[in-house]
Amino acid sequence: MPKDSNGLTLDGQGKPLWLSLELTYRCPLKCSWCNNPLDFDDYAARELTTDEWKRVLRESRELGALQLGFTGGEPLQRPDLEELVAYANELGFYTNLITSGIGLTEERLVALKAAGLKQIQLSLQATEAAVTDALVGATAHERKLDAARRIKAHGFPMVLNMPVFRQNIGMTDAMIAWAAELGIEYIEFANIQYYNWALVNRDELMPTLEQVREAEQVVQRWRDKLGKKMTIYFVIPDYYEGRPKACMNGWGAIHLTIAPDGVAMPCQEARVIPGLEFESVRDKPLAWLWHESPLFRKYRGLDWLPEPCVSCDEKEKDFGGCRCQAFLLTGDAGNTDPACGRSPHHARVREATDTAARPLRFRKPLFKRAAGTVTTAFLED
Ligand code: FES
Repeated sequence: MPKDSNGLTLDGQGKPLWLSLELTYRCPLKCSWCNNPLDFDDYAARELTTDEWKRVLRESRELGALQLGFTGGEPLQRPDLEELVAYANELGFYTNLITSGIGLTEERLVALKAAGLKQIQLSLQATEAAVTDALVGATAHERKLDAARRIKAHGFPMVLNMPVFRQNIGMTDAMIAWAAELGIEYIEFANIQYYNWALVNRDELMPTLEQVREAEQVVQRWRDKLGKKMTIYFVIPDYYEGRPKACMNGWGAIHLTIAPDGVAMPCQEARVIPGLEFESVRDKPLAWLWHESPLFRKYRGLDWLPEPCVSCDEKEKDFGGCRCQAFLLTGDAGNTDPACGRSPHHARVREATDTAARPLRFRKPLFKRAAGTVTTAFLED
């Protein structure tokens, strides 16, 4: 693995290979697993202007970024999306739109195609309208399916992204069947990560290990059946893996997120970690933020790793896991991610998975026969 001039280990040769532009946190949906900040309302008035986003695009390209995702919130909430796509395209970016599909009208699709958009990632939550609409808190299902059909009709490469949790994991089979019929080439079953809203609702959302294994078998059957016609990604959630994920391929290694207010971050969740200095592209050049800022250098490379990571032979594979999750579950972002079975805090993850597996407790009928009446009472267990 190469090192930069400061001895920091990087795997993107110092470049932000993947750029994530969170154009806005505004969104017409109310998903209970959303990974936007809990206080996103505070950012609406501070969104970067079109010209400021264009400067971000220029500076990122100069840094060597090649791929980018316009995301949010819902990026279609920005009326300048097409202008930004066209500008990014001119600069030579491979452009992706990451969308719920709400607001993706025919007119906007035509404009995005003309602007040079290369790929669309559309999120679908379920194959039944009642389920989708209940999950996202809006009448959205038909509009999403319609968006999917029109994306295909316009010839965009499309990734169907299904965030996976307890309430929809049983629809894995139906979702693949639907996508195969439409000719979708890529499906990503994204077992949700527990940050922000998803962490608030973790006990309600986490699937059981049994559900995850069943879904994995369903996916394997479809892979065997469809072969090269469809690529299906299904990653076991880190809570059940016993090993941490290589989050962002390492902090400050290849991933650069710009929040709606211009704050540059190594991942979109980083603001959950207190005590770090978050600086905006409004105040500092992007090259300085990426290469020099204390935020990006804090957990970059391997030198900062704690035990047991530092003596672990898998450290170059997972970089100690996710900093945000380490903070959220242990109170210290510098700890080993507790998703790792070798973490001294792994019990916190086990507690969560045990809660997911706990069977529902039903009330017991309690019959009291008194003067010909029957009554019932609730019992704990
Ligand atoms: Fe922030 Fe993993 S989400 S480091």
